[in-house]
Amino acid sequence: MPTDTDSDIPSTADARPRHIAVIMDGNGRWANKRHMPRAAGHKAGVNATRRIVENSARYGIEALTIFAFSSENWQRPEKEVSSLMSLFVSTIAAEVKKLHKKNVRVQFIGDRTRFSDKLQASINESEALTAANTGLKLNIAANYGGRWDIVHACRNILESVQGGELSADEIDESLFSRYLSLQDMPEPDLLIRTGGEQRISNFLIWQLAYAELYFTDALWPDFADNDFQAALDWYAGRQRRFGKTGQQLAQENTASTPGRQVSS
Ligand code: FPP
Repeated sequence: MPTDTDSDIPSTADARPRHIAVIMDGNGRWANKRHMPRAAGHKAGVNATRRIVENSARYGIEALTIFAFSSENWQRPEKEVSSLMSLFVSTIAAEVKKLHKKNVRVQFIGDRTRFSDKLQASINESEALTAANTGLKLNIAANYGGRWDIVHACRNILESVQGGELSADEIDESLFSRYLSLQDMPEPDLLIRTGGEQRISNFLIWQLAYAELYFTDALWPDFADNDFQAALDWYAGRQRRFGKTGQQLAQENTASTPGRQVSS
């Protein structure tokens, strides 16, 4: 795990998110502005994706979950969908060894069965290659939808009940969470959405219940190191209440860390 020893990294370790989720929006508009095909925007988006992965690893973020392709994206023009699929195959092939060297664990969430055999094979290989890595957990949401995730969890819970491994009265929020994608990691603390829209767009709708939501007008291919830093700085100034009052949190915080006040 990277340390805080780099002098250019501010010492906000306890105000840093453990898990960041990202909606990488604005590739199409980035391309349109340049009179380029939308596919060129997605290609440029890969560079921004590489940057945020590197920055997350460098800052010691535990998990990064990126929305690469939603269940609804199949409705885009066929040409765009097929160019995105080719981009996924070529990007995984080009990046996975580098990610492995950086100790990144790659996992895909979503229904992969609709992808081509070639893409499914490259997804499976990238997961297998990096499975034992202990650094950044990179989760790529592909053919993912938050509602799909919840329905999928319900089906699996039902199977467990029908199989006699689980009784209905054991079902509570904590058990339910363990049937969802990302069950083995902390819930996202921070959601970043680029591209100026302020929506969740059926991303991790259960898991984002308490996330801080950061929206920026920057288009995804333009999302640079300083934009990432700005999101972290903004997060560091948030007071996360989880339903409690600010006063309760301040008291708890002073009790556990003498001399430290909760920021507002
Ligand atoms: C949304 O922008 C972006 C996408 C649907 C694709 C994002 C995918 C990448 C950046 C590639 C990442 C690759 C891997 C392997 C993880 P948009 O097209 O909706 O933009 P618009 O709102 O301007 O039209």
